Amino acid sequence: MTSKPWQLIALTLLLCSACSRPTNSAAPMPSSSALQSLYLQSCYSCHSRGANGAPRSGDRQQWQARLAKGMDTLLDHTINGYRAMPPRGMCLNCSRDDYRALIEFMADLPQNTPSN
Ligand code: HEC
Repeated sequence: MTSKPWQLIALTLLLCSACSRPTNSAAPMPSSSALQSLYLQSCYSCHSRGANGAPRSGDRQQWQARLAKGMDTLLDHTINGYRAMPPRGMCLNCSRDDYRALIEFMADLPQNTPSN
């Protein structure tokens, strides 16, 4: 069986169309991988695109008004829920420190939590 070069090229093109998965590389992600998986499981679904008026991740302007309430209030609202924001942000295994780090990340503040 002889294989012609064009067959090889066609095959390569076919296979490569499957490997270019659509990735949303423009979306900001937390630098720590532990935080990133918590974020993807919960906050991401609403905050990455601002669903139902959620302040968008990385949008400092939208977060400014929220931060003005103080971090303690934001943590309380995250844990107990606030209007369209569900209690605990749909994260069942997030600690208070995780929430703080997630809020700091979404508000684009320097993350001062120790890496764990
Ligand atoms: C089901 C969608 C949804 C998920 C999941 C979600 N949020 Fe929200 N969040 C919202 C919406 C909508 C608002 C805006 C509420 C408003 O002001 O009406 C909001 C607002 C907030 C606020 C601002 C509260 C305030 O007092 O202004 C914080 C902080 C917040 N979310 C943190 C988080 C964190 C942290 C997570 C992940 C652990 C998370 N959210 C997951 C929908 C969501």
